[in-house]
Amino acid sequence: MQAILDEIVATIGVSNDRGKVADYIPQLACIDPNQLAISVALADGRVFSAGDHQQLFSIQSISKVFTLTIALGKLGDGVWARVGREPSGDPFNSIVQLEHENGKPRNPFINAGAIAIADAIMVGHQPKETLAEILQFVRFIADDESICIDHNVAESELKTGDRNASLAHFMASFGRMNNPVDYVLGTYFHHCSIAMTCQQLAKAGLFLAGDGENPVTGTRVVSARRARRINSLMMMCGHYDGSGEFAYRVGLPGKSGVGGGILAVAPGHASIAVWSPGLDEVGNSKLGTEALEKLVQQTGWSVF
Ligand code: DON
Repeated sequence: MQAILDEIVATIGVSNDRGKVADYIPQLACIDPNQLAISVALADGRVFSAGDHQQLFSIQSISKVFTLTIALGKLGDGVWARVGREPSGDPFNSIVQLEHENGKPRNPFINAGAIAIADAIMVGHQPKETLAEILQFVRFIADDESICIDHNVAESELKTGDRNASLAHFMASFGRMNNPVDYVLGTYFHHCSIAMTCQQLAKAGLFLAGDGENPVTGTRVVSARRARRINSLMMMCGHYDGSGEFAYRVGLPGKSGVGGGILAVAPGHASIAVWSPGLDEVGNSKLGTEALEKLVQQTGWSVF
């Protein structure tokens, strides 16, 4: 495995065609695009990494997998009254479907859906309490107490978050917000601003590779059925309007973030995190996707 990862970083890491870093969040616009990292956490507990795997990066929308998991724990199937389970086929920050679909986001991973999930998990708590709960959950699944929020990124998102504020207010106009919109947005921006290394992220995804149980610590996070369902949502909606392309090229459940990270799950085998800040035209890590494509070719881990 180490040789495979070294080879992937050596060949893909020299590419001149690295995509573009997200520039609508000022703190992300200044990240050096010349970075690439990959970590593979195997079901047997071994972790292999290559490239800039100890570098912290903003996990952004990957955090939506964790907030969805928390929401399912709190609300069970009640989650599906708040968001749907269908791919949107539209950009991650699109507002158009909300108008025709009663303010109900298509899925929990587009921005509108994740904002609705943030509202759902607050259940009357303050943003601080909710964020502490999210952070505690992420530290628990990654088995790493050092994971934190990057407050500079959260501030940066807050200042430039007009589109997300529009989505939240639009949903509120349909009576779909239980908490003050500003509180919900504050919670959402901060959970998107969790910073992790590839190694930490790969470990955090292990429960999804292990039928809901972290195979290394032996702790059950969700039922096997719930893990399968979360994986299916990642497969169908995890890369927004690039989800079909990702399924075609990589063939694994995956969730991307505009920080350039991707968490991919090879059920029964491994949890994989890749990071390279340059994005393709729909907002998914360009070299990260290429690295996963190569890894799956070498390991045969595609679910298809
Ligand atoms: O709200 C936003 O736009 C960002 N905090 C998250 C978007 C994101 O990561 C989309 N992913 N590819």
